[in-house]
Formats: sequence, structure tokens, C-alpha cells
Amino acid sequence: MSVASVPFDQRDGFIWYDGALVPWRDAKLHVLSHGLHYASCVFEGERAYGGEIFKSSEHSERLRLSAEMLDFTIPYTISEIDAAKRLTLEKNNLTNAYVRPVAWRGSEMMGVSAQNNKIHLAVGVWEWPSYFDPEQRLKGLRLDLSEWRRPDPATIPCRAKAAGLYMICTISKHRAERRGYADAMMLDYRGLVAECTGANLFFVKDGVIHTPTPDCFLDGITRRTVIDLARRHGIEVVERHIKPEELSDFSECFITGTAAEVTPVGSIADWTFTPTGITHQLMDAYSAEVQPKKQAA
Ligand SMILES: Cc1ncc(COP(=O)(O)O)c(C=O)c1O
Repeated sequence: MSVASVPFDQRDGFIWYDGALVPWRDAKLHVLSHGLHYASCVFEGERAYGGEIFKSSEHSERLRLSAEMLDFTIPYTISEIDAAKRLTLEKNNLTNAYVRPVAWRGSEMMGVSAQNNKIHLAVGVWEWPSYFDPEQRLKGLRLDLSEWRRPDPATIPCRAKAAGLYMICTISKHRAERRGYADAMMLDYRGLVAECTGANLFFVKDGVIHTPTPDCFLDGITRRTVIDLARRHGIEVVERHIKPEELSDFSECFITGTAAEVTPVGSIADWTFTPTGITHQLMDAYSAEVQPKKQAA
């Protein structure tokens, strides 16, 4: 059996759990945990390249902010979380890996109110080369259009990377996969183009990049990195509201995310794209950017 098909609770290695490394299979929580029942749980998705986690502190900061938006405080500082992630990587002998910190409310109270629950933090790491099938990635992904929409920011803490917000992402991605697509594009509550189930969206028209304003979905760390890279390459980037009917005007499309990195999109429902020039330029630029920076002599 390849490692990828071994269930996540049956692997070997170490998981950092509330301040100490524990054997992988012992990193358990009780079924009566608030995080499980009421989604009082936040997490991060990060990647290490050549032994260094890309933008580690930005992710740790977002994790702490996500928790604050759910009204709890992670009892570790950003540098303590960064150190925990580094230690977990080292202890598992991984240099190129996915890194998953997760924080949740424990079991002290089991109701909507959970004022006194202990806040737990764990970090798992594993090898995870490509989020999408490499062959599909090369050709450009085929995306479905989700039936679910990103909610109004007045109804959810939309800037938090919170477990509860992934409920509609999983339903959307399952439906897309059943229908033969790699993923789905989600519109927002206004019917504007939003994002994919785990990545941000970009389009190209006449050499200019257009991407939806992140006013009701996650402003990805990869998204911001790619915008910065594009501008450094002299490519204009416009953040604006995009209507789905405009998709027929775009020549290229790609998605960005820690897991997805920069991935070309060939089609979304009946809209087709030829992700060539700018998409390939940014795929290369991103691959170079994530490599550990050599210390200046
Ligand atoms: C819903 C959603 N949008 C966007 C992103 C991209 O965020 P990032 O680039 O910070 O990984 C992710 C991935 O974490 C995500 O899950």
C-alpha cells in the first residue's frame, strides 16, 4: 500500500500535541469535544520546501486570528507555533511536506456555550506532492460550478480559516468529483465569482490579471504572493467584482493555494480557457519563490 492510501490515523511518526511530541497513533481526542460538535475549530494548511515552511509566521498569525474570530485564544505565541511546526517536521524527517496545525475547543463544556473549554493545538506533517492529479494539472483542470455560494460576511466570520466554513466546500467538491470534475467554482451570496473549494481564482484578459476582491472569502497567502509576483514581473493585476457571464471574455484561468500552488484551469462549466503565457510564467515564478532563501554571505 502506498503511504498516500494509508488512513491518517494509522501512520507512523510524531504529532505535536499541546506542547509535546506524541507518537502519531496516540494523538487522539475524545468524541465529546466541542470542536467536533460545534465546529469550534480552526486550522492552517502550509507547505515546507527544502526544510523551510513557506511564510510560516504568516500562517501562524492567521491561525491565531482565525481563533480570535471564533472567540478563543490559542495559548501559544506565533514564534512558539512556528517552533512547534519546525520541530514536527524535523522529528518526522521531512523536508518537502504539507503542514497542518489545528486548534480546537476541548471537552469541559458540551453546549453552545463553551466559555471554560481548554484550547488544544496540534501539528501534523506529511508528504503530499500534488493536490491535483499531475496529468490533469498539466492539461488544465476541469471545474464544475457549485450549487453552493460563499455566504454574506454578516452571517459568518469569512476571514477565518475555520472548519465550519468548509462544510459547503466538501459538499461542492464531492458533487464535482462525482460529475467527473476536479473541483468546483463557487459564486458568492451576490452571484459574483468567488473562489474554488480550497483555492483562489485568477483570470487573464489582454495581458492583464483579474481576480475577485476577497470581501467574503479567504484572502489566501498564496493569492497575495502571486499578486505580488505578477506585479514584480510587470503584469497588471486588477482586484474587482467579477460576474460569471464575464468568464467568456477571459483567455486564461488559474487557481492558487498552499495545496494547489499555481494550477492552470482548462474549463469552468462551459467556459473554456487556454492557460499558457501568464499562467506558466507565474507557475515558474511561484516555484522559485517558495524555495528556501540562501542566507546572504
Ligand atoms: C477556501 C479556500 N480559499 C483559499 C485558499 C487559499 O489560501 P492559501 O493561499 O492561504 O493557502 C484556501 C486554502 O487554504 C482555501 O481553503
